[in-house]
Amino acid sequence: AARTRIHHLQQAKDEGRRFAMLTAYDQYAAEIFDEAGIEVLLIGDSASNNVYGNDTSLPVTVDELLPLCRAVSRSARRAFILADLPFGSYEVSAARAVETGVRFLKEGGAHAVKLEGGAYYADTVRAMVQAGIPVMAHIGFTPQSEHSLGGYRVQGRGEDARRLIEDAKALEQAGAFAVLMEMVPADVAAEVDKALRVPTVGIGAGNGTTGQVLVWQDMAGLRGGRMARFVKQYAQLRTTLSEAARAFGDDVRKGSFPGPEHSF
Ligand code: KIV
Ligand code: NA
Repeated sequence: AARTRIHHLQQAKDEGRRFAMLTAYDQYAAEIFDEAGIEVLLIGDSASNNVYGNDTSLPVTVDELLPLCRAVSRSARRAFILADLPFGSYEVSAARAVETGVRFLKEGGAHAVKLEGGAYYADTVRAMVQAGIPVMAHIGFTPQSEHSLGGYRVQGRGEDARRLIEDAKALEQAGAFAVLMEMVPADVAAEVDKALRVPTVGIGAGNGTTGQVLVWQDMAGLRGGRMARFVKQYAQLRTTLSEAARAFGDDVRKGSFPGPEHSF
C-alpha cells in the first residue's frame, strides 16, 4: 500500500471513516504496527516515561527523541510519521518552534510534528506550516503542563468546553492539519470534531473523534501498574516477557540451555 499522507487522514474524516494511531519508539514496534496497518505512528514525548524511565514527559530532550524518531521513520514503510516537540523546545518563540520542527523532519525523518497548546500557539502553528512543517495540535489535558493544570485531570468540563472549542478552531484556522484531544468529555470532543473541517484524534476523549491513539506499552500490556480509565489492554506482554525471561534463567541455571541443537 502507498504511504499514508495528510490528505488520506482528511479523506477519512470527509468520508466518515476512522483511523488508528499508536506511539512507537523503536524499530520492531514501528515495523509491527506499520505491517498491522496502523495509519499514524507517534514518536511521543511519552518516550520520557516509556523509554527513558522518567516520571513525567517533562525531562525528555530533542536530542533524546530524535534518534528514536529516526529509528521509527526508517522502519515504517506505510505509516504517517508524527513526532512530538518536547517540553522547552518550542514555547519561547515561533522561530524556535520552526527550528525544532525542521530538525524533526530533517534529522528525524518525521512527516509532521505535534505540539501542546491552545489558541495561544496559533501564530507558532502558522509560522511552522508556512515553513513547510505540518502540525498537529494537542489540546485538553496537555501532560507537559501537568504542574499548571494540577495533575492528571479531565479538561473542557462545563464552562471550559467553550474555550476548548475556540482553541480547536483557532488552531485549525492557523493551519493545523489535525487536533488531538486528551482527557476531554466525550460529548465535548464530538462537538469539536463536528466544528472542525480537519480530523481529530482522541485519547480519553470518547468515541466521537476521527482517530484514536494509545501509548503502545499501555495498549499491549507491557507497562505495569495502574492503567488510566481510557486504556484498553489488547495483550499482556509484560506477563509473556516475564515468563520467557524466567524460563530462560531457569534453563541456564539448570544447564538445559543450550542443548545440542543450539551448539556447534
Ligand atoms: O506522547 C504521547 O504518547 C502522546 C499521546 C497523545 C499518546 O502525546
Ligand atoms: Na505527547
